[in-house]
Amino acid sequence: MIRIFDTVSLPLLRWLDAEDAHRLAIQGLKLLPAMRPAPDDAKLAVRAFGLNFPNPVGMAAGFDKNAEAPDALLRLGFGFVEIGTVTPRPQSGNPRPRLFRLERDEAVINRMGFNNDGADPVLRRLAARAHFGGIVGVNVGANKDSTDRVADYVRLIETFAPVASYFTVNISSPNTPGLRNLQQAAQLDDLLAKALEARDRVKQKSGDTPVLLKIAPDLSLAELDDVVHVARSRRVDGMIVANTTLARPRTLREQTRAKEQGGLSGRPLFRLSTRMVAETFVRVEGAFPLVGVGGIDSGGAALTKIRAGASLIQLYSSLVYKGLGLVESIKTDLASTLLRTGRDSLSEIVGADAATITAEDWPV
Ligand SMILES: Cc1cc2nc3c(=O)[nH]c(=O)nc-3n(C[C@H](O)[C@H](O)[C@H](O)COP(=O)(O)O)c2cc1C
Repeated sequence: MIRIFDTVSLPLLRWLDAEDAHRLAIQGLKLLPAMRPAPDDAKLAVRAFGLNFPNPVGMAAGFDKNAEAPDALLRLGFGFVEIGTVTPRPQSGNPRPRLFRLERDEAVINRMGFNNDGADPVLRRLAARAHFGGIVGVNVGANKDSTDRVADYVRLIETFAPVASYFTVNISSPNTPGLRNLQQAAQLDDLLAKALEARDRVKQKSGDTPVLLKIAPDLSLAELDDVVHVARSRRVDGMIVANTTLARPRTLREQTRAKEQGGLSGRPLFRLSTRMVAETFVRVEGAFPLVGVGGIDSGGAALTKIRAGASLIQLYSSLVYKGLGLVESIKTDLASTLLRTGRDSLSEIVGADAATITAEDWPV
């Protein structure tokens, strides 16, 4: 079924403008028949942040910004889906074109700018599907013209707590001017204190929803020291490493496209984001689990990310080039690695290579 979907849709979607293709993919997913997903190999199960994930492969934020198709994505085999980024009020984002494929690099540049329907319709959609279960996280952000960004995160956490499996506090999008400043220690401390207070305020009614922090891969190691210090002292439940990068590796082949402003994702992000996972892992010292994201496009890449320190992984850009069948193929590869090495679960290898990776030359 997925193979047919990919065979028909991939060449067609690649021929369209990138944003039109994305819109069509969401519409296609909404039409997907409600079949039951094949059960996952029990060895792929992951327990993290108090949640039981059937497998570690998640849909990264930004694909289903408005919660239009989380159940279709879960049925396609994802172990969890992160919707958003959602902002309190709807916003249209940056002018088009704002999404670009770098075909020969298997990469994407986007400067979408948090285009989304705003909290109300997204909340209605999530409430309507709540009885289906499955792990659906809500990625939250501030409106571009907000006069109190921290208040935006607080309001979203209070609003979405009854329907969110977890929250991601996104302070790492490069496309909302100034948002990344929230990664600075004093601002981050204030934001996390208030975000976690909000979660605790609604705990009675909505349970103890985990709150994760999503960071940029472009932080210096001194900045990462500060971020991890604050995240640990405020006791966040986990971190997502990482968002898109503003860097443009010299090795990019699509040099003209590479000049477009925005965040780069996909294969050229793999080494930098994996290094950041390892650097975060050694600093976190087991205080909470990490989600590794950036350039995962195969079972081997997923395994490398896990060995760098990720308990869970997410992907987005590689789906553009490899199709949705990639999810099953990553899971099959992970399960066969466990079988071949006689291990019972992926938790046994999380971070196994972190120390080695952090000793390597910095990826360029
Ligand atoms: C078109 C596009 C839109 C994105 N929108 C968001 C977003 O709204 N919020 C967010 O936290 N990350 C967003 N991301 C970043 C992804 O979640 C992910 O961190 C990044 O793309 C790296 O993973 P990948 O190389 O597998 O794509 C977006 C990525 C792309 C390509």
